[in-house]
Amino acid sequence: MRCVVANWKMNLRSEEAHAFCEDLLLHIAPEPQAEVGIAPPFTLLSLVSGLVRPKGLHVFGQNGHAEDKGAFTGEISMPQLRDVGCSGVLLGHSERRQFFGETDAALAKKIKAAWQWDLLPLLCIGETLAQRDAGETLAVLGQQLSILSQTGPGPLWVAYEPVWAIGTGRRAEAPQVLEAHGFIRAELIRHGACADYEVPILYGGSVTPESFPELLNIPEVAGGLVGGASLDPHKFAALVKQAG
Ligand code: 13P
Repeated sequence: MRCVVANWKMNLRSEEAHAFCEDLLLHIAPEPQAEVGIAPPFTLLSLVSGLVRPKGLHVFGQNGHAEDKGAFTGEISMPQLRDVGCSGVLLGHSERRQFFGETDAALAKKIKAAWQWDLLPLLCIGETLAQRDAGETLAVLGQQLSILSQTGPGPLWVAYEPVWAIGTGRRAEAPQVLEAHGFIRAELIRHGACADYEVPILYGGSVTPESFPELLNIPEVAGGLVGGASLDPHKFAALVKQAG
């Protein structure tokens, strides 16, 4: 299974999102060979899911709270994501970890809440440059995946996104990706995550149509989680075609 997911982050407004979806649907085959997803900001979820879910695309929230409801001003719950047509939710993106204090403990609860509401979690993990330079990459990835011992198995996608490669134009080198993805696969197996579920491992960090084919040739790279290049429907459609 190949997967390509657009993470729009805090970008686009209704009119732009509408034009993007129409353009994208025109440029990808009626039944793309890859699993395709879009993670718009909360304000666009309803609009985007109305346009692309009937065509078989996934729609992901960019975050979700572990509680179903309550006094959590500014948060969105998993049932609310379902309510606006989401089929999945990004969890643990490095920007959430870095800027909003997302913790592994909270992520374990969020994964379980997502499953309870039949949402596919796309768990993002990755090391900072300081951690890589200190030789801690695999330890960090192992720590971030250790929450799977609390959640148990379930439907899951994982994205390896080295923090230093996000939005920098500095994509990880093939041997670095090979090592990280191989390690992630071994950890997923160790935690029993792959026994009953196919768990694709996506790469994220400065993915472009120029770099994607090489990435897709690396063992255990099942696709991409794409930021900047996913804001252009033609570039994103090109990525979908490459993955198909
Ligand atoms: P860029 O593709 O802009 O580097 O962003 C990657 C990312 O953070 C996707 O979640």
